[in-house]
Amino acid sequence: MSQAFRRKPIADLTAHDGSTTGLRRVLGAGDLVMLAIGAVIGAGIFGAIGTAAAGQTDPSGAIIRYGAGPALVFSFLLLGAACALAALCYAELAAMIPQAGSAYAYAYATLGEFVAWIIGWDLILEYAVGNVAVAISWGDYFTTLLRGFGIDLPAFLTTGYRTAVLSSNPAVHGLIDTAPRLMGLPVLVNLPAFGIVAFITWLLLRGARESASANNVMVVVKLLALGLFVAVGTGAINPANYEPFAPNGFTGIHQGAAIVFFAYIGFDAISTAAEETTNPQRNLPIGILGGLAVCTLIYVIVGAVLTGMVPYQQLAVADPLARALEIAGFTTVGWIVALGAAVSMTAVLLVFQYGQPRIFFAMARDGLLPKWAATINPKTRVPSTTTTITGVAVALAAAVGDAAETYDLTNIGTLFAFAIVAIGVVVLRVVEPDRPRPFRVPLVWAVGPLGAAACAFIMIGLPRQAWERFGLWLLLGLVVYLGYGIRHSRLRQTPVA
Ligand code: ALA
Repeated sequence: MSQAFRRKPIADLTAHDGSTTGLRRVLGAGDLVMLAIGAVIGAGIFGAIGTAAAGQTDPSGAIIRYGAGPALVFSFLLLGAACALAALCYAELAAMIPQAGSAYAYAYATLGEFVAWIIGWDLILEYAVGNVAVAISWGDYFTTLLRGFGIDLPAFLTTGYRTAVLSSNPAVHGLIDTAPRLMGLPVLVNLPAFGIVAFITWLLLRGARESASANNVMVVVKLLALGLFVAVGTGAINPANYEPFAPNGFTGIHQGAAIVFFAYIGFDAISTAAEETTNPQRNLPIGILGGLAVCTLIYVIVGAVLTGMVPYQQLAVADPLARALEIAGFTTVGWIVALGAAVSMTAVLLVFQYGQPRIFFAMARDGLLPKWAATINPKTRVPSTTTTITGVAVALAAAVGDAAETYDLTNIGTLFAFAIVAIGVVVLRVVEPDRPRPFRVPLVWAVGPLGAAACAFIMIGLPRQAWERFGLWLLLGLVVYLGYGIRHSRLRQTPVA
Protein backbone atom coordinates (compact mmCIF):
# COMPACT_ATOMS: atom_id res chain seq x y z
CA MET A 1 0.00 0.00 0.00
CA SER A 2 2.83 2.36 0.88
CA GLN A 3 3.89 1.99 -2.79
CA ALA A 4 0.72 3.84 -3.80
CA PHE A 5 1.97 6.89 -1.94
CA ARG A 6 5.55 6.62 -3.10
CA ARG A 7 6.79 9.95 -4.43
CA LYS A 8 8.66 10.27 -7.68
CA PRO A 9 12.11 11.76 -6.99
CA ILE A 10 12.25 15.29 -8.41
CA ALA A 11 15.61 14.50 -9.96
CA ASP A 12 13.79 11.96 -12.17
CA LEU A 13 11.16 14.49 -13.13
CA THR A 14 13.60 17.22 -14.03
CA ALA A 15 15.84 14.78 -15.90
CA HIS A 16 13.53 15.04 -18.88
CA ASP A 17 15.34 17.75 -20.75
CA GLY A 18 14.84 18.35 -24.46
CA SER A 19 17.24 15.63 -25.48
CA THR A 20 15.72 12.80 -23.47
CA THR A 21 12.05 13.46 -24.06
CA GLY A 22 12.30 14.67 -27.60
CA LEU A 23 10.16 17.78 -27.03
CA ARG A 24 11.72 20.92 -28.48
CA ARG A 25 12.40 24.07 -26.38
CA VAL A 26 11.10 26.94 -28.47
CA LEU A 27 8.78 29.04 -26.24
CA GLY A 28 9.88 32.24 -24.43
CA ALA A 29 8.21 34.31 -21.63
CA GLY A 30 6.28 36.42 -24.14
CA ASP A 31 4.94 33.31 -25.86
CA LEU A 32 3.82 31.98 -22.47
CA VAL A 33 1.91 35.15 -21.49
CA MET A 34 0.27 35.01 -24.90
CA LEU A 35 -0.49 31.29 -24.41
CA ALA A 36 -2.04 32.09 -21.02
CA ILE A 37 -4.26 34.81 -22.46
CA GLY A 38 -5.01 32.45 -25.32
CA ALA A 39 -6.17 29.79 -22.87
CA VAL A 40 -8.03 32.03 -20.45
CA ILE A 41 -10.16 34.50 -22.41
CA GLY A 42 -12.88 32.57 -24.20
CA ALA A 43 -16.26 30.96 -23.57
CA GLY A 44 -16.26 32.17 -19.95
CA ILE A 45 -16.16 35.90 -20.65
CA PHE A 46 -18.10 35.72 -23.92
CA GLY A 47 -20.72 33.23 -22.70
CA ALA A 48 -20.88 32.13 -19.04
CA ILE A 49 -20.62 35.74 -17.80
CA GLY A 50 -24.30 36.27 -18.71
CA THR A 51 -25.54 33.43 -16.50
CA ALA A 52 -23.20 34.51 -13.71
CA ALA A 53 -24.81 37.97 -13.73
CA ALA A 54 -28.42 36.92 -14.28
CA GLY A 55 -28.56 33.52 -12.53
CA GLN A 56 -30.24 30.40 -13.88
CA THR A 57 -33.80 29.15 -13.78
CA ASP A 58 -35.34 25.87 -14.92
CA PRO A 59 -38.05 25.73 -17.64
CA SER A 60 -40.75 26.27 -14.98
CA GLY A 61 -39.03 29.47 -13.79
CA ALA A 62 -37.74 28.03 -10.52
CA ILE A 63 -34.33 29.37 -9.50
CA ILE A 64 -31.49 26.87 -9.95
CA ARG A 65 -28.85 29.35 -8.85
CA TYR A 66 -28.59 33.02 -8.05
CA GLY A 67 -26.81 35.55 -10.20
CA ALA A 68 -24.45 38.24 -8.94
CA GLY A 69 -26.07 41.17 -10.79
CA PRO A 70 -23.76 44.18 -11.20
CA ALA A 71 -21.82 42.89 -8.18
CA LEU A 72 -20.31 40.48 -10.72
CA VAL A 73 -17.17 42.59 -10.50
CA PHE A 74 -16.81 41.27 -6.94
CA SER A 75 -17.16 37.70 -8.24
CA PHE A 76 -14.31 38.44 -10.64
CA LEU A 77 -12.16 39.97 -7.90
CA LEU A 78 -12.86 37.02 -5.59
CA LEU A 79 -11.86 34.61 -8.34
CA GLY A 80 -8.83 36.70 -9.26
CA ALA A 81 -7.63 36.52 -5.65
CA ALA A 82 -8.29 32.77 -5.35
CA CYS A 83 -6.58 32.07 -8.67
CA ALA A 84 -3.62 34.28 -7.74
CA LEU A 85 -3.01 32.11 -4.65
CA ALA A 86 -3.19 28.97 -6.78
CA ALA A 87 -1.09 30.60 -9.52
CA LEU A 88 1.71 31.38 -7.07
CA CYS A 89 1.77 27.73 -6.06
CA TYR A 90 1.72 26.61 -9.70
CA ALA A 91 4.60 28.97 -10.42
CA GLU A 92 6.78 27.54 -7.64
CA LEU A 93 6.16 23.95 -8.67
CA ALA A 94 6.35 24.61 -12.40
CA ALA A 95 9.71 26.37 -12.05
CA MET A 96 11.02 23.63 -9.80
CA ILE A 97 9.63 20.72 -11.81
CA PRO A 98 9.39 22.01 -15.39
CA GLN A 99 7.67 18.93 -16.75
CA ALA A 100 4.93 18.40 -19.29
CA GLY A 101 2.52 16.73 -16.85
CA SER A 102 1.72 19.98 -14.92
CA ALA A 103 -0.27 19.34 -11.70
CA TYR A 104 0.00 15.60 -12.35
CA ALA A 105 3.79 15.74 -12.22
CA TYR A 106 3.82 18.02 -9.16
CA ALA A 107 1.49 15.67 -7.31
CA TYR A 108 3.76 12.72 -8.19
CA ALA A 109 6.67 14.51 -6.55
CA THR A 110 4.77 15.79 -3.53
CA LEU A 111 1.86 13.57 -2.61
CA GLY A 112 2.76 10.29 -4.28
CA GLU A 113 1.62 8.13 -7.16
CA PHE A 114 -1.98 7.57 -6.15
CA VAL A 115 -2.79 11.27 -5.75
CA ALA A 116 -0.86 11.95 -8.97
CA TRP A 117 -3.02 9.49 -10.86
CA ILE A 118 -6.20 11.01 -9.42
CA ILE A 119 -5.04 14.47 -10.48
CA GLY A 120 -4.03 13.29 -13.95
CA TRP A 121 -7.44 11.70 -14.31
CA ASP A 122 -9.11 14.81 -12.89
CA LEU A 123 -7.28 17.05 -15.36
CA ILE A 124 -9.19 15.33 -18.18
CA LEU A 125 -12.20 17.24 -16.84
CA GLU A 126 -10.35 20.53 -17.13
CA TYR A 127 -8.74 20.01 -20.51
CA ALA A 128 -10.71 17.58 -22.64
CA VAL A 129 -14.18 18.01 -21.11
CA GLY A 130 -13.66 21.79 -20.86
CA ASN A 131 -12.85 21.86 -24.54
CA VAL A 132 -16.06 20.04 -25.36
CA ALA A 133 -17.97 22.97 -23.83
CA VAL A 134 -15.81 25.56 -25.60
CA ALA A 135 -16.17 23.80 -28.96
CA ILE A 136 -19.95 23.73 -28.65
CA SER A 137 -19.99 27.40 -27.68
CA TRP A 138 -17.73 28.09 -30.66
CA GLY A 139 -20.20 26.23 -32.87
CA ASP A 140 -23.07 28.43 -31.61
CA TYR A 141 -21.18 31.63 -32.43
CA PHE A 142 -20.07 30.30 -35.80
CA THR A 143 -23.64 29.38 -36.76
CA THR A 144 -24.83 32.87 -35.77
CA LEU A 145 -22.05 34.49 -37.79
CA LEU A 146 -22.88 32.39 -40.85
CA ARG A 147 -26.49 33.48 -40.53
CA GLY A 148 -25.23 37.06 -40.70
CA PHE A 149 -23.88 36.16 -44.15
CA GLY A 150 -27.24 34.67 -45.11
CA ILE A 151 -26.03 31.04 -44.79
CA ASP A 152 -28.43 28.92 -42.77
CA LEU A 153 -27.17 25.45 -41.85
CA PRO A 154 -29.95 22.94 -41.10
CA ALA A 155 -30.60 22.68 -37.35
CA PHE A 156 -29.87 18.94 -37.26
CA LEU A 157 -26.28 19.70 -38.35
CA THR A 158 -25.69 22.40 -35.70
CA THR A 159 -27.37 20.83 -32.67
CA GLY A 160 -25.84 18.01 -30.66
CA TYR A 161 -28.07 15.13 -29.58
CA ARG A 162 -27.70 15.91 -25.84
CA THR A 163 -28.62 19.54 -26.41
CA ALA A 164 -31.86 18.47 -28.13
CA VAL A 165 -32.66 16.03 -25.32
CA LEU A 166 -32.10 18.62 -22.56
CA SER A 167 -33.59 21.68 -24.24
CA SER A 168 -36.77 23.21 -22.89
CA ASN A 169 -37.26 24.95 -26.24
CA PRO A 170 -39.88 22.89 -28.14
CA ALA A 171 -38.29 23.71 -31.52
CA VAL A 172 -34.93 22.30 -30.39
CA HIS A 173 -36.33 19.36 -28.43
CA GLY A 174 -38.59 18.49 -31.38
CA LEU A 175 -35.51 17.86 -33.54
CA ILE A 176 -35.30 14.40 -31.97
CA ASP A 177 -38.43 13.50 -33.98
CA THR A 178 -37.85 15.56 -37.12
CA ALA A 179 -34.12 14.94 -37.75
CA PRO A 180 -33.16 12.49 -40.52
CA ARG A 181 -32.51 8.98 -39.25
CA LEU A 182 -29.62 6.65 -39.69
CA MET A 183 -30.20 3.03 -38.69
CA GLY A 184 -33.21 4.21 -36.70
CA LEU A 185 -31.26 6.87 -34.74
CA PRO A 186 -31.82 10.63 -35.16
CA VAL A 187 -28.87 12.35 -36.86
CA LEU A 188 -28.22 15.29 -34.54
CA VAL A 189 -24.64 16.50 -34.75
CA ASN A 190 -22.94 19.81 -34.14
CA LEU A 191 -20.88 19.82 -37.29
CA PRO A 192 -19.14 23.19 -36.69
CA ALA A 193 -18.04 22.08 -33.19
CA PHE A 194 -16.69 18.84 -34.65
CA GLY A 195 -14.98 20.67 -37.50
CA ILE A 196 -13.14 23.21 -35.35
CA VAL A 197 -11.69 20.50 -33.09
CA ALA A 198 -10.58 18.52 -36.14
CA PHE A 199 -8.89 21.63 -37.57
CA ILE A 200 -7.12 22.45 -34.30
CA THR A 201 -5.87 18.88 -34.00
CA TRP A 202 -4.42 19.05 -37.50
CA LEU A 203 -2.70 22.33 -36.59
CA LEU A 204 -1.20 20.86 -33.42
CA LEU A 205 0.14 17.82 -35.20
CA ARG A 206 2.26 20.15 -37.31
CA GLY A 207 4.37 21.26 -34.28
CA ALA A 208 4.59 23.55 -31.22
CA ARG A 209 6.22 26.59 -32.83
CA GLU A 210 3.63 26.84 -35.57
CA SER A 211 0.82 26.49 -33.03
CA ALA A 212 2.23 29.26 -30.80
CA SER A 213 2.39 31.65 -33.75
CA ALA A 214 -1.24 30.98 -34.65
CA ASN A 215 -2.13 31.57 -30.99
CA ASN A 216 -0.38 34.97 -30.92
CA VAL A 217 -2.51 36.22 -33.82
CA MET A 218 -5.71 35.02 -32.15
CA VAL A 219 -4.78 36.69 -28.85
CA VAL A 220 -4.40 40.03 -30.60
CA VAL A 221 -7.84 39.58 -32.17
CA LYS A 222 -9.48 38.76 -28.82
CA LEU A 223 -7.92 41.77 -27.11
CA LEU A 224 -9.12 44.00 -29.94
CA ALA A 225 -12.65 42.55 -29.71
CA LEU A 226 -12.86 43.15 -25.94
CA GLY A 227 -11.27 46.59 -26.35
CA LEU A 228 -13.93 47.47 -28.91
CA PHE A 229 -16.66 46.21 -26.58
CA VAL A 230 -15.37 48.36 -23.71
CA ALA A 231 -14.84 51.44 -25.89
CA VAL A 232 -18.33 51.35 -27.39
CA GLY A 233 -20.09 49.98 -24.32
CA THR A 234 -18.75 52.59 -21.91
CA GLY A 235 -20.66 55.29 -23.79
CA ALA A 236 -23.87 53.26 -23.39
CA ILE A 237 -23.70 52.84 -19.59
CA ASN A 238 -26.84 53.83 -17.74
CA PRO A 239 -26.06 54.27 -14.01
CA ALA A 240 -29.62 53.12 -13.19
CA ASN A 241 -28.59 49.60 -14.24
CA TYR A 242 -26.23 49.43 -11.25
CA GLU A 243 -29.25 49.56 -8.90
CA PRO A 244 -29.62 47.26 -7.03
CA PHE A 245 -25.92 46.54 -7.10
CA ALA A 246 -25.99 43.14 -5.40
CA PRO A 247 -29.55 41.86 -5.87
CA ASN A 248 -28.85 38.47 -4.31
CA GLY A 249 -26.28 39.59 -1.78
CA PHE A 250 -23.22 37.48 -1.11
CA THR A 251 -25.02 34.28 -2.23
CA GLY A 252 -25.31 35.77 -5.71
CA ILE A 253 -21.66 36.83 -5.75
CA HIS A 254 -20.59 33.36 -4.56
CA GLN A 255 -22.75 31.34 -6.97
CA GLY A 256 -21.96 33.74 -9.80
CA ALA A 257 -18.28 33.19 -9.10
CA ALA A 258 -18.71 29.40 -9.24
CA ILE A 259 -20.22 29.75 -12.74
CA VAL A 260 -17.79 32.28 -14.15
CA PHE A 261 -14.77 30.47 -12.72
CA PHE A 262 -14.70 28.86 -16.14
CA ALA A 263 -13.44 32.21 -17.45
CA TYR A 264 -10.25 31.87 -15.36
CA ILE A 265 -9.35 28.34 -16.27
CA GLY A 266 -6.26 28.17 -18.40
CA PHE A 267 -3.47 30.18 -16.78
CA ASP A 268 -2.28 26.89 -15.36
CA ALA A 269 -2.38 25.17 -18.74
CA ILE A 270 0.83 26.80 -19.85
CA SER A 271 2.68 24.75 -17.25
CA THR A 272 2.21 21.82 -19.65
CA ALA A 273 4.57 23.66 -22.00
CA ALA A 274 7.37 23.42 -19.42
CA GLU A 275 9.45 21.05 -21.49
CA GLU A 276 9.14 23.24 -24.55
CA THR A 277 10.05 26.48 -22.73
CA THR A 278 13.43 28.17 -22.78
CA ASN A 279 14.70 29.06 -19.30
CA PRO A 280 11.57 27.67 -17.62
CA GLN A 281 12.70 28.74 -14.13
CA ARG A 282 12.32 32.37 -15.08
CA ASN A 283 9.75 32.24 -17.85
CA LEU A 284 7.09 30.02 -16.30
CA PRO A 285 6.32 32.27 -13.29
CA ILE A 286 6.24 35.32 -15.56
CA GLY A 287 3.87 33.57 -17.95
CA ILE A 288 1.50 32.24 -15.29
CA LEU A 289 1.24 35.29 -13.03
CA GLY A 290 1.44 37.83 -15.84
CA GLY A 291 -1.29 36.12 -17.83
CA LEU A 292 -3.58 35.93 -14.80
CA ALA A 293 -3.07 39.59 -13.88
CA VAL A 294 -3.89 40.80 -17.40
CA CYS A 295 -7.02 38.64 -17.60
CA THR A 296 -8.35 39.69 -14.18
CA LEU A 297 -8.03 43.35 -15.10
CA ILE A 298 -9.83 42.80 -18.39
CA TYR A 299 -12.66 40.82 -16.72
CA VAL A 300 -13.34 43.43 -14.07
CA ILE A 301 -13.58 46.15 -16.72
CA VAL A 302 -15.75 44.07 -19.08
CA GLY A 303 -18.02 43.01 -16.18
CA ALA A 304 -18.50 46.60 -15.01
CA VAL A 305 -19.29 47.85 -18.53
CA LEU A 306 -21.60 44.95 -19.38
CA THR A 307 -23.77 45.24 -16.27
CA GLY A 308 -23.93 49.01 -16.76
CA MET A 309 -25.19 48.72 -20.33
CA VAL A 310 -28.34 46.65 -19.79
CA PRO A 311 -30.40 45.44 -16.81
CA TYR A 312 -28.59 42.30 -15.61
CA GLN A 313 -31.75 40.16 -15.98
CA GLN A 314 -31.43 40.46 -19.75
CA LEU A 315 -27.98 38.86 -19.84
CA ALA A 316 -29.05 35.20 -19.50
CA VAL A 317 -28.25 34.43 -23.15
CA ALA A 318 -25.53 32.48 -24.99
CA ASP A 319 -23.87 35.62 -26.39
CA PRO A 320 -24.29 38.32 -23.68
CA LEU A 321 -21.64 40.77 -24.94
CA ALA A 322 -22.97 40.83 -28.50
CA ARG A 323 -26.53 40.96 -27.18
CA ALA A 324 -25.82 43.93 -24.88
CA LEU A 325 -24.35 45.84 -27.82
CA GLU A 326 -27.36 44.97 -29.92
CA ILE A 327 -29.78 46.14 -27.22
CA ALA A 328 -27.78 49.38 -26.95
CA GLY A 329 -28.23 49.87 -30.72
CA PHE A 330 -24.77 48.82 -31.94
CA THR A 331 -25.70 45.80 -34.06
CA THR A 332 -22.67 45.91 -36.34
CA VAL A 333 -20.26 46.24 -33.43
CA GLY A 334 -22.09 43.31 -31.82
CA TRP A 335 -21.42 41.22 -34.93
CA ILE A 336 -17.72 42.16 -34.89
CA VAL A 337 -17.46 41.22 -31.21
CA ALA A 338 -19.15 37.90 -32.00
CA LEU A 339 -16.48 37.31 -34.61
CA GLY A 340 -13.84 38.12 -31.98
CA ALA A 341 -15.54 35.65 -29.62
CA ALA A 342 -15.25 32.85 -32.18
CA VAL A 343 -11.57 33.64 -32.69
CA SER A 344 -11.01 33.81 -28.90
CA MET A 345 -12.52 30.42 -28.37
CA THR A 346 -10.37 29.00 -31.16
CA ALA A 347 -7.31 30.06 -29.15
CA VAL A 348 -8.72 28.43 -26.00
CA LEU A 349 -9.31 25.21 -27.91
CA LEU A 350 -5.77 25.35 -29.20
CA VAL A 351 -4.14 25.64 -25.77
CA PHE A 352 -6.24 22.90 -24.17
CA GLN A 353 -5.88 20.54 -27.10
CA TYR A 354 -2.17 21.24 -26.72
CA GLY A 355 -2.14 20.56 -22.97
CA GLN A 356 -4.18 17.36 -22.69
CA PRO A 357 -1.95 15.19 -24.90
CA ARG A 358 1.11 16.30 -22.94
CA ILE A 359 -0.47 15.21 -19.67
CA PHE A 360 -1.38 11.82 -21.19
CA PHE A 361 2.16 11.68 -22.59
CA ALA A 362 3.66 12.26 -19.13
CA MET A 363 1.38 9.64 -17.58
CA ALA A 364 2.25 7.10 -20.27
CA ARG A 365 5.95 7.81 -19.83
CA ASP A 366 5.49 6.90 -16.16
CA GLY A 367 3.74 3.67 -17.05
CA LEU A 368 0.35 4.73 -15.65
CA LEU A 369 -1.05 4.67 -19.20
CA PRO A 370 0.02 2.29 -21.99
CA LYS A 371 3.48 2.90 -23.42
CA TRP A 372 2.27 3.47 -26.97
CA ALA A 373 0.58 6.66 -25.74
CA ALA A 374 4.02 8.21 -25.14
CA THR A 375 5.02 8.03 -28.81
CA ILE A 376 6.60 11.16 -30.24
CA ASN A 377 6.60 11.87 -33.96
CA PRO A 378 10.31 11.89 -34.90
CA LYS A 379 9.88 14.67 -37.45
CA THR A 380 7.62 17.19 -35.66
CA ARG A 381 8.54 15.94 -32.14
CA VAL A 382 4.93 16.29 -31.10
CA PRO A 383 3.27 13.60 -28.92
CA SER A 384 1.27 12.60 -31.96
CA THR A 385 -0.58 9.56 -30.62
CA THR A 386 -2.11 11.35 -27.65
CA THR A 387 -2.76 14.47 -29.74
CA THR A 388 -4.75 12.42 -32.22
CA ILE A 389 -6.66 10.46 -29.57
CA THR A 390 -7.58 13.66 -27.69
CA GLY A 391 -8.67 15.29 -30.95
CA VAL A 392 -10.93 12.42 -31.97
CA ALA A 393 -12.49 12.07 -28.49
CA VAL A 394 -13.17 15.80 -28.01
CA ALA A 395 -14.47 16.24 -31.57
CA LEU A 396 -16.93 13.34 -31.20
CA ALA A 397 -18.12 14.49 -27.76
CA ALA A 398 -18.54 18.08 -29.03
CA ALA A 399 -20.55 16.79 -31.99
CA VAL A 400 -23.22 15.20 -29.79
CA GLY A 401 -22.76 16.86 -26.35
CA ASP A 402 -24.31 19.79 -24.50
CA ALA A 403 -22.25 22.78 -23.31
CA ALA A 404 -24.11 23.60 -20.09
CA GLU A 405 -23.79 20.02 -18.91
CA THR A 406 -20.02 20.14 -19.14
CA TYR A 407 -19.24 23.61 -17.66
CA ASP A 408 -19.86 22.69 -14.02
CA LEU A 409 -17.97 19.44 -14.31
CA THR A 410 -14.97 21.27 -15.72
CA ASN A 411 -15.12 23.87 -12.95
CA ILE A 412 -15.26 21.39 -10.09
CA GLY A 413 -12.47 19.26 -11.56
CA THR A 414 -10.19 22.23 -12.09
CA LEU A 415 -10.80 23.68 -8.63
CA PHE A 416 -9.92 20.31 -7.15
CA ALA A 417 -6.62 20.26 -9.07
CA PHE A 418 -5.82 23.82 -7.93
CA ALA A 419 -6.46 22.85 -4.30
CA ILE A 420 -4.15 19.83 -4.55
CA VAL A 421 -1.40 21.96 -6.07
CA ALA A 422 -1.75 24.50 -3.25
CA ILE A 423 -1.43 21.72 -0.67
CA GLY A 424 1.40 20.08 -2.61
CA VAL A 425 3.58 23.17 -2.50
CA VAL A 426 3.41 23.24 1.30
CA VAL A 427 4.07 19.50 1.59
CA LEU A 428 7.17 19.81 -0.56
CA ARG A 429 8.52 22.65 1.60
CA VAL A 430 8.34 20.22 4.53
CA VAL A 431 9.70 17.08 2.88
CA GLU A 432 12.31 18.69 0.63
CA PRO A 433 13.15 22.01 2.27
CA ASP A 434 16.62 22.33 0.72
CA ARG A 435 15.80 21.69 -2.91
CA PRO A 436 16.59 24.77 -5.03
CA ARG A 437 13.47 26.80 -5.74
CA PRO A 438 14.01 29.27 -8.59
CA PHE A 439 10.69 30.83 -7.66
CA ARG A 440 9.45 30.79 -4.06
CA VAL A 441 5.87 31.51 -3.00
CA PRO A 442 6.02 34.38 -0.51
CA LEU A 443 4.36 33.58 2.85
CA VAL A 444 3.82 30.01 1.69
CA TRP A 445 2.41 28.84 5.04
CA ALA A 446 -0.48 31.23 4.54
CA VAL A 447 -0.74 31.23 0.73
CA GLY A 448 -0.90 27.42 0.32
CA PRO A 449 -3.67 26.68 2.87
CA LEU A 450 -5.57 29.85 1.93
CA GLY A 451 -5.39 28.92 -1.77
CA ALA A 452 -6.76 25.43 -1.07
CA ALA A 453 -9.50 26.85 1.16
CA ALA A 454 -10.47 29.45 -1.45
CA CYS A 455 -10.82 26.73 -4.11
CA ALA A 456 -12.92 24.59 -1.77
CA PHE A 457 -15.11 27.61 -1.02
CA ILE A 458 -15.78 28.24 -4.72
CA MET A 459 -16.50 24.52 -5.23
CA ILE A 460 -19.23 24.78 -2.59
CA GLY A 461 -21.00 27.28 -4.86
CA LEU A 462 -21.52 24.55 -7.49
CA PRO A 463 -24.75 22.52 -7.67
CA ARG A 464 -25.17 19.06 -6.22
CA GLN A 465 -25.30 17.40 -9.63
CA ALA A 466 -21.77 18.59 -10.36
CA TRP A 467 -20.53 17.01 -7.12
CA GLU A 468 -22.24 13.71 -7.92
CA ARG A 469 -20.79 13.50 -11.41
CA PHE A 470 -17.39 14.49 -10.11
CA GLY A 471 -17.52 11.70 -7.53
CA LEU A 472 -18.44 9.18 -10.22
CA TRP A 473 -15.59 10.34 -12.42
CA LEU A 474 -13.07 9.89 -9.61
CA LEU A 475 -14.45 6.42 -8.88
CA LEU A 476 -14.00 5.47 -12.52
CA GLY A 477 -10.43 6.76 -12.29
CA LEU A 478 -9.82 4.55 -9.26
CA VAL A 479 -11.01 1.51 -11.20
CA VAL A 480 -8.67 2.30 -14.11
CA TYR A 481 -5.74 2.78 -11.73
CA LEU A 482 -6.37 -0.51 -9.94
CA GLY A 483 -6.91 -2.26 -13.26
CA TYR A 484 -3.84 -0.89 -15.07
CA GLY A 485 -1.55 1.75 -13.56
CA ILE A 486 -0.86 -0.02 -10.30
CA ARG A 487 0.64 -2.95 -12.25
CA HIS A 488 2.54 -0.99 -14.89
CA SER A 489 3.92 1.97 -12.96
CA ARG A 490 7.59 2.46 -13.79
CA LEU A 491 8.28 3.89 -10.36
CA ARG A 492 7.09 0.66 -8.75
CA GLN A 493 9.53 -1.31 -10.88
CA THR A 494 12.50 0.62 -9.50
CA PRO A 495 13.81 -0.43 -6.08
CA VAL A 496 13.19 1.95 -3.18
CA ALA A 497 16.42 3.93 -2.65
N1 ALA B 1 -11.11 30.11 -19.60
C1 ALA B 1 -11.45 29.45 -20.80
C2 ALA B 1 -12.69 30.00 -21.39
O1 ALA B 1 -13.30 30.84 -20.81
C3 ALA B 1 -11.57 27.98 -20.57
O2 ALA B 1 -13.08 29.61 -22.47
